[in-house]
This record gives sequence, structure tokens and C-alpha cells, in this order.
Amino acid sequence: MPSVGRRHFGDYSPQTQAKHAILRKYFCAYVSALERNVDAFHYVDGFAGQGTYGDDLPGSPLLAIGALTGLVKPAAVTLVEADGRAFEKLEQVITPHLAGLADSWLVHAEFEAVIDQVLARPIYTRYRNVATFAFIDPCGVKGVRMRDISRLMTLRYGECLLFWNYDGLNRWLGAVVAGSHPTERLVDFFGSRPAVDLAIECYRASAQPRRKEIELRDLYLKALRDSTGAAFLLPFRFEAAGKARTSHYLIHCSRHPLAFRMMKDVMATATTDFATVGVFEFLRADEIGAQSSLFRPALDNARAAILNELRGGDRAVRTFTEKWVERPDDFLTGKLYRQELLQMEAEDLIQVMDSRSGQLKPVNQRMKGPRPTLGPELIVRAVAGRNSAT
Ligand SMILES: C[S@@+](CC[C@H](N)C(=O)[O-])C[C@H]1O[C@@H](n2cnc3c(N)ncnc32)[C@H](O)[C@@H]1O
Repeated sequence: MPSVGRRHFGDYSPQTQAKHAILRKYFCAYVSALERNVDAFHYVDGFAGQGTYGDDLPGSPLLAIGALTGLVKPAAVTLVEADGRAFEKLEQVITPHLAGLADSWLVHAEFEAVIDQVLARPIYTRYRNVATFAFIDPCGVKGVRMRDISRLMTLRYGECLLFWNYDGLNRWLGAVVAGSHPTERLVDFFGSRPAVDLAIECYRASAQPRRKEIELRDLYLKALRDSTGAAFLLPFRFEAAGKARTSHYLIHCSRHPLAFRMMKDVMATATTDFATVGVFEFLRADEIGAQSSLFRPALDNARAAILNELRGGDRAVRTFTEKWVERPDDFLTGKLYRQELLQMEAEDLIQVMDSRSGQLKPVNQRMKGPRPTLGPELIVRAVAGRNSAT
């Protein structure tokens, strides 16, 4: 690779690349899923950055603009950046790309200072059904307020993708406990005083770092669900580069099962070890195998749950691959359920039947080239005597 290219990618960490891949793929899917149902789109980047990495690798605003450009439906972007130099660069980079968009707004400000104006953009009076997607991507924890996320989530088709900085939160809690930081900003972050009290209690009580992380994450997810009404929350874990610990999460917040399902499929493609681990996380290539996952039992649990379900009788494949994946607490994808069912069939734990004839349809009758298929309409049945959910 020429030295300039190397410098570019040096500025652009694998974690940032994965974050951008998730944003770009999901936002494209969001736009095409909604294009027929809405009148307009509004992309909000509350912590927009300087527009590019290195000289020309696109940052989040350009990725979103790429998905909106050329749509038949009108679209606007609002980009907020607090740092003066970064804002100048952002303006230079973005302005040439705004021609095809309506009512876009680039603003040099703190996100919390302009949230009222963001929610009162002309696009909301001009069009009735506006789909709003917000990317909340701060460097740390400061400036992220639960009430702002709540307001974005109450908008029609409102969704947020939030960078949740676990490292930063951990340090902040430490400083609050040590008495060197006030708690008020944490109340903004968690949305309520009782939630902060629980977080402080958890920080003090948990000696085991991974336990503490899971408890704090789940506490935040609960606060997010309670405050925003987002039934579907999907966290994607990022390891700190070169260290066996979590740096941050991307959390997708939505109120719609289809959005949840689409984001799971996108996150699965960005997951280093998804097929074997079945969890949403990103590890750098050189870190794979160096540590165990926080959630490794996910696939074992899925298998036990499938067997348990089949105790109640035969089920269509789509029960698992289409219905279960839309349950808010189910973090597996349809592809993964299909893969698990095929594996269970190979181990003689289940049989597959044709839905119309009720006859067995073994795997050799369902091959497509070298691969076995498992259509959603097929029926699965537990093999008698082998249906142990333990
Ligand atoms: C991680 S960078 C954003 C990167 C960008 N979203 C991307 O993916 O290309 C975070 C940016 O937020 C800006 N920032 C920090 N606090 C802010 C605040 N309260 N409001 C708006 N921007 C803020 C920082 O100056 C920085 O440029």
C-alpha cells in the first residue's frame, strides 16, 4: 500500500470502520424499507465530526448523504458539531454534497443547545410523515442526554444509533464516587436520579469487571427503554484495541420489530465471530480467540429454547427464523436460527417435514447445490426420546 493510503487507514481505526459499516448498511436498508411509506427523511448527526478521516475517507455525514442522494422523496440532513476547527472542515467537505437535499442545516453548536431547533426544522411542517434517524456519536459521555434521545424517539419512525462509551462512563462513575465530579451530568445521561443511584451502587459493589459492565449496560438499557419507549434495543460491543475489555457499544434504539430484525442482520455482518458465537460484538482480527465472549452461551441457549418449544408440538421453521427474531430480547438472526436448526437435524434432534403432505422431507431432498436449504414453511418436529431441553 502506498504511504498516503497507509496514513489514511492509520487514522481510521478498525473500530471506526466497523461503526461506519453498520451505519451505512443499516441507514441504506432503513431508507429503502421506508421510502414508500413516508413523505420525507431527516438524518440528524448530533456529533458530526469533521466530515472525513485522513484526507478523503468519508465520515458519518457523508455516508448518510450517500444513502439519501438520488431518492425520489425529499431528504434533509442536520449536522451539529461543537468544535470550531472540526466544524470549519465539516462545512468545506459537506457543502458540495448538499445540492440534492432539502433544508439541510450545518450548525456549530453543542447538540443539547440546538435540539429544540433540530426538532422544529422546516421539513416537519412541510411534510407530514417524516422519518427521522439520529446518529449520536460523541467522543465521550458528555453531551449525551436521555431527554434528547427520548424526544427524537417520539418522532414518527424515529430511530437512534447511539455510541455508548463504556470506558468513559466507568471513568466518570469513578470520579463521582471519589467526589471529584458532580453527579448532575450523570442524571442527564441516565435520565433520572434513581437510575444514577443504582449505577453508583453497581459501580461500588461489583468487584468483577465483566459483571460490572453487564450490570451497568443493562441498567442503561432499562433506563433507555423506560425513558424513550423504545421496545427494541440492540447493543453491539466493541473491544478496546489490543485489550481484553470493552471500550464501547453501539446501541440501536427503535420501536419497530422490523427495524430490530434489519439491524440484527446488519450487525451480524460486522461481527467477527458471529456464526460460532452468536453475539453482536466486534473484535479486531488479531484479537479473535484471545478471549472468550461475554455472551458465548447464546447459541446453546437458543438450542435449548427450540427444543423446549418443540415439546409443545411441531412448529414451522418461520416460528424461529421470522417470529422469534422479532422478540425484543432475542439477539439472534434468522440466518443463525436456520443454521442451528440444520445442525440439530444433522444431530438427529429434530426432523423436517413438508407442510402440505406432512411427510418427512430429509436433507437430501432439500439440497441446493452443495448446501442444505430450510424454507420458512417447512415444519420441524422433535425426535422422540431426544427432546431434552437441558
Ligand atoms: C466521534 S466524533 C464524530 C465522528 C462522526 N460521527 C463520524 O463518524 O464521522 C465526535 C465529535 O463530536 C464533537 N462534539 C463533542 N461534544 C459535542 C457536543 N456536545 N455537541 C456536538 N458535537 C460535539 C467532537 O468535536 C467530535 O468532532
